[in-house]
Amino acid sequence: MKIAILPGDGIGPEIIAQARLVLENLDESFTLEEAPVGGAGYEADGHPLPPATLQLAKEADAILFGSVGDFKYDQLPRELRPEQAILGLRKHLALFANLRPAICYPELTSASSLKPEIVAGLDILIVRELNGDVYFGSPKGIRTAMDGLFPGSREGFDTMRYSEPEVRRIGHVAFAAARKRNKRVCSVDKSNVLETSQLWREIMSEIGKEYPDVELTHMYVDNAAMQLVKAPKAFDVVVTGNLFGDILSDEAAMLTGSIGMLPSASLDAHNKGLYEPSHGSAPDIAGQGIANPLATILSAAMMLRYSLGKPEQATRIERAVQQVLTEGYRTRDIYTDGTKKVGTAQMGQAVLKALE
Ligand code: IPM
Ligand code: MG
Repeated sequence: MKIAILPGDGIGPEIIAQARLVLENLDESFTLEEAPVGGAGYEADGHPLPPATLQLAKEADAILFGSVGDFKYDQLPRELRPEQAILGLRKHLALFANLRPAICYPELTSASSLKPEIVAGLDILIVRELNGDVYFGSPKGIRTAMDGLFPGSREGFDTMRYSEPEVRRIGHVAFAAARKRNKRVCSVDKSNVLETSQLWREIMSEIGKEYPDVELTHMYVDNAAMQLVKAPKAFDVVVTGNLFGDILSDEAAMLTGSIGMLPSASLDAHNKGLYEPSHGSAPDIAGQGIANPLATILSAAMMLRYSLGKPEQATRIERAVQQVLTEGYRTRDIYTDGTKKVGTAQMGQAVLKALE
């Protein structure tokens, strides 16, 4: 089986190196092939998603992605910015289902900015639609307004849209996931204002009837943002569109104490997937060897489970991560008094040791 490894920018190469070691250490034979992406793709080939990188991603059975983005590319035209690499991969590979688990490890409860009793034992899954919504809806652009409040002035516009099949397929992913968990789905929308959301809600209700064993609730996105900090443990699976999911998944990540701990999967209809940490490229700490590699290592575990059919290896990695936390190893982002502060490579070594 072939795994495309796309380290990207910022801390990407450092954290990917540790996840690579973990994969190489498993008693499985994978072919790991690396290619530049994001700012690194732009430097190497003049484009954030070079054709050869896209080709490799298409051929591979799964993709392990680091992170993209750096302040130094902020001035580039949008189509050349590093973010276009991840958006392009999502689109070209039809990765429409983004799974973002937010788990609060008992050892890290005090690292959350919320009171321990609110987050202890938290285990929720955000299912974010990733191929549609205002991210990809056309038309979009900047033009001279013909109407509206200020005709003749410049205006920016994007289009929020979801077709029925798009809502259906992400709905099924959410309900199927809930079946393997606590059997509750909360669909998040803004149907009091948006037509797109009204259709979304109707279709989710219809799909819900096909899963009588799963409880479906609906929530407006503003309320969901509030409930996530008020009583996050009341959620099990949250399903939502691309934009709301982008925002809510960052919020959910922070409940757990560190975004440095959270993996994610972006899947197509056949469970081929791209796996990446939920955090960004953190250019401010890049190259210092202090980034937390655990989200990337856990992303590799998700890859083994969802795309490579190796759930037992996935569980091994997850147990090893749990063990290093129990042993007290902490990178700077999750460090608290009385624990052992380590760098990126030492954390990777601790996981390798725990795997033995
Ligand atoms: C994410 C990121 C991306 C998004 C950016 C980098 C385009 O924030 O994966 O959540 O908005 O989807
Ligand atoms: Mg985001």
